[in-house]
Amino acid sequence: MTQFNFIKDIAKYGLENDREKLLNVLNELIDYSKKTKKINFALQLQSILKDAIREHHTSTLTKVGSNEYYDKLDDRELSEFIIEKLTSNYSFENLVCDDLVKDELNHFIEEHQSADMLQRFNLPISNKIILHGPSGCGKTLASYVIAGELHKMMVVINLGAIVSSKLGETSKNLSKIFRKAASEDCIIFIDEFDSLGKVRDYNQDHGEMKRVVNTILQLFDYLPQSSVVIAATNQIGMIDDALLRRFDMNIKFDMPNEIQIKELVIKTLKNGQFVFNKPQSVISTIKLCIGLSYYSIQKTLITAIKRSLFINSNNKTVPMSAIIDMDIWKGLIQQEKKALKPLKKR
Ligand SMILES: Nc1ncnc2c1ncn2[C@@H]1O[C@H](COP(=O)(O)OP(=O)(O)OP(=O)(O)O)[C@@H](O)[C@H]1O
Ligand SMILES: [Mg+2]
Repeated sequence: MTQFNFIKDIAKYGLENDREKLLNVLNELIDYSKKTKKINFALQLQSILKDAIREHHTSTLTKVGSNEYYDKLDDRELSEFIIEKLTSNYSFENLVCDDLVKDELNHFIEEHQSADMLQRFNLPISNKIILHGPSGCGKTLASYVIAGELHKMMVVINLGAIVSSKLGETSKNLSKIFRKAASEDCIIFIDEFDSLGKVRDYNQDHGEMKRVVNTILQLFDYLPQSSVVIAATNQIGMIDDALLRRFDMNIKFDMPNEIQIKELVIKTLKNGQFVFNKPQSVISTIKLCIGLSYYSIQKTLITAIKRSLFINSNNKTVPMSAIIDMDIWKGLIQQEKKALKPLKKR
């Protein structure tokens, strides 16, 4: 298709008031312009399109049969796939990680905060990020931090539910969710991104898996620059290579080392609100935590704080001090390690 053909189609659908076809042809033109390296034009057109869509969505009355009416129906259909829609108050303060992870997350956030400047220089904005690593090491937490730092609403998608939905509907549902999130300028957070691999198990139709992967590839390619997609997985090996390549950033979260455990403990103790009864054995207890995730360590410490409080509060009086019994914490750490051992062997 040449540019003249696009112009003819745009004139035709515009004059016929056929909004859906007009949007399709405009999206095709954006794609064509990107492929023919007219990036600046593509971005400008994309932004015009986004503004128009947003304006369209803010009209107050819903006419039956109108696009808004169908969007509202979509809302209802989509609710089972959206785990939650949230705004976040999290910031880097809440996350413990190594400097490399922090720097990468910071770069990602900076690009969105300085989007205007990047667009002025025709530079693409990184907007697709995949967070991976073992369970309980801060992937979900980091997505909240991104949402909090960018002051954007986040839609958390249940990919497992979409994938196991009605035969052949996966691609359609994914497209609807992406369209909706893009029009509302939300961050899309796809947790358990590896469940895409499960299409094979749920579905005898092997073509379905390919279709779903292709849909995601397309959705990623057409994603407006201001939209953000965050995917998280603890099984990165399950994800198709073509999909992995589409992410602008790939960040690995690891189990905490001694320094990070110490930082987590200080944060959990609310910077001094709680203290240990045997400060001299803090270092050895921190060493004992090595091998556990941030989540498990925090869980044992919080349980130890609560149990110590109960011990101190005989006869239900509020304790004067919040002193943590180190032996209780150590016992809980050992218990947690023992409980996780059989899981690791599997
Ligand atoms: N890096 C971290 N810094 C501070 N707290 C953490 C960190 N990682 C985990 N936590 C604590 O553990 C909780 C659970 O972590 P989170 O949900 O982010 O893990 P995850 O990596 O997404 O795990 P999963 O793979 O099981 O989804 C967090 O809400 C937080 O309280
Ligand atoms: Mg998670």
